[in-house]
Amino acid sequence: VKRRPMVIGNWKMNLDHVQARQWLLEYASSNTAWQHRMEDADVVVNHVEIGVLPSFTSLLAIRDMARDTTLDPELFFGAQNVSELDAGAYTGDISAQMLAALGCRYVLLGHSEQRRYHPEDDDKIDRKMRVVLDRGMTPIVCIGETKLGREDGIGIDYALNQLVSAVRLLSGEDMSRVIVAYEPVWSIGTGKTPDPSVIESALADIRDFINATFGADVAAKVRILYGGSVNPGNAAEIIRRYGVDGFLVGGASLDPAKFAEICQLA
Ligand code: G3H
Repeated sequence: VKRRPMVIGNWKMNLDHVQARQWLLEYASSNTAWQHRMEDADVVVNHVEIGVLPSFTSLLAIRDMARDTTLDPELFFGAQNVSELDAGAYTGDISAQMLAALGCRYVLLGHSEQRRYHPEDDDKIDRKMRVVLDRGMTPIVCIGETKLGREDGIGIDYALNQLVSAVRLLSGEDMSRVIVAYEPVWSIGTGKTPDPSVIESALADIRDFINATFGADVAAKVRILYGGSVNPGNAAEIIRRYGVDGFLVGGASLDPAKFAEICQLA
C-alpha cells in the first residue's frame, strides 16, 4: 500500500479570521507547486495532502477561501477539538455535526495541550474518535510521552497506552481511516527534536501495535505523522526515515512561506 504523505498545520490559539485570510493568500503565493499547476492544467494532483487546523472562529473564513479555485483548492482544513456529545445543553462546546456541516476533513484529538490544560482524558478521546468517524471526518489522534517518560525510558510505552485507549471503540475499518500523530511532549514548541532514528523506531512501534491489534492490511494503511518542532531545516531529514508519513506542524505553520516549504520537502 502506498500511503499519501501529509502535512498538517496546527495553528493552536493563533490567527483570527482576518489573519487567517491573509495567511491563505500568502500561502497560495508561496506554494510554487500550486503555481506550476496553475500554468500546466495537466498536473492537478498534489503529491502531498495538505491541511490546516484553524481556531473555530477562523474555520468559516478558510472554508470560503478554500472553495475559491483561484486559490489552492487542495488545502483541506479541520478543527482542533470537538465535543464527544451530539447536541444539547453543553455551553461552550462544538459538536461533530457542526464541524462536518462546515466541511471539516479532520478533527485533532488528544493534543497534549488539551490533555494538559483541560480535563481531556483517554476515556473522552475514545468517544470523540467515534463521533468524528460517524460524521465522516478523519480523526488525527495525538500521542506522546512527557519529558519524564523519556528520561525513565518508558517513552513509547506511554504513547502506546494512549493509543490503546483512544482506539478501543474502533473496528479495523474505522482504524484504517485514522491518522496517528506521534508528538513527544518535550519536543513541542521547544526547538528540540528526537534523533531521526528515534522517531523512526517510535513510529515502527506504533505501526507494530496497529498490526497486532487490527491486522497487517489496516497497519499498512494508517498514516503516522511526527510532530514537535518541525521546521524547514529538519523536515527533509525526518521525512526520509522509513515509515514517516508526514508532519503535524505547530509554530512553523503560522508562517505561510515556511509551511509551504515544509510541504514541498514532504
Ligand atoms: O500540533 C503541533 C505540535 O504541537 C507541534 O508544535 O511545531 O510548535 O513544536 P510545534
